[in-house]
Amino acid sequence: MIGLKIPKKQANSIRLILQEKSILDHEWKIKRVDDYVYLPLNKKPDAMLLNELNLSNSNLVETGFEKLQKRPQSIEDYLKDRIPPEKMDEFKKSFDIIGDVVILEIPDELEEEKYIIGEAALKFTKRKTVYRKKSEIRGVVRTRELEHLAGEDQPVTIHKEYDSQIMLNVKEVYFSPRLATERRIITNQIKDGEIVIDMFTGVGPIAINISRTRKVKIYAIDINPHAINYLKKNINNNKLKGEVYPIRGDVKDVLDSINIQADRIIMNLPETAHEFLPIAIKHLKSGGIINYYQFSSDYSEPIKMIRSTAKPRKVEILDQRKVKSRSPGVWHMAIDARIS
Ligand SMILES: C[S@@+](CC[C@H](N)C(=O)[O-])C[C@H]1O[C@@H](n2cnc3c(N)ncnc32)[C@H](O)[C@@H]1O
Repeated sequence: MIGLKIPKKQANSIRLILQEKSILDHEWKIKRVDDYVYLPLNKKPDAMLLNELNLSNSNLVETGFEKLQKRPQSIEDYLKDRIPPEKMDEFKKSFDIIGDVVILEIPDELEEEKYIIGEAALKFTKRKTVYRKKSEIRGVVRTRELEHLAGEDQPVTIHKEYDSQIMLNVKEVYFSPRLATERRIITNQIKDGEIVIDMFTGVGPIAINISRTRKVKIYAIDINPHAINYLKKNINNNKLKGEVYPIRGDVKDVLDSINIQADRIIMNLPETAHEFLPIAIKHLKSGGIINYYQFSSDYSEPIKMIRSTAKPRKVEILDQRKVKSRSPGVWHMAIDARIS
């Protein structure tokens, strides 16, 4: 290939000029032989440039260069030499990181490449474990099947969210790091002294986040015994200002058996929360707030649901948000409603 042979002393200044003119070929290593430096070029410089550099055609030589081993800068960069180009489009870099665990979505078209992708995710995220989503989130406890791809097969981890430490087993409980902003929004709404019911607490990320910074009482309910066990650990592992009471059971049975009137009820079970609206409204003080979630394509559907269930109580919509996308055109919606 074409190179420019120049005395060592001039090499740096000429290299910078060639770089500026985009003539230096960065795919090849600069070569040093005795008192000369050979710069790899991607095209022959014209006479004017040679003149400007105080060089002539005699400095242009045909010579070999060593290919530069470029270190990949991203997971796509790393994978593009390892999986066939026609399959590269299938690779979506959307993954969740929960503590030391990476959870990837890999389409069936990339079945043969799944371990390479797993290793790449391990390398680039510097976490300890990589799983692949093997099913949708399903069932009452809202978990999914996971397939181990790389690193240790260790589903128990501690996830740090803001200043909370959330311990969980990714195979046994629901947890989404994508709800972190929403949990922060809710926490910011809460005042000291509130009595809160977190109807579907999971391992308690909202309850822990709120009670770390607010002097509140939170009844944190979940039907999944594993979730409640981790919630208990999370209560111990975080320095809390408020009090969290973990309760295992179906929220309908739990609320029927205890006599609480709350200032706020958090209902993060977007698939079926509407079924629990009657019992929530029954346990909400006049002027209390419901943080309600529903999968929907618009705000009007969940708002209608709240208004019709609360009747004849007065409903004031305080805020409405798209928390995250669920599927094309369908959102995980949040509605904050005051019910008097
Ligand atoms: C979408 S997750 C929300 C978890 C948590 N709020 C969070 O932000 O990570 C829903 C939770 O509701 C729980 N759940 C479902 N049906 C329930 C019921 N009838 N009573 C109590 N908990 C229930 C599931 O076990 C699951 O942990």
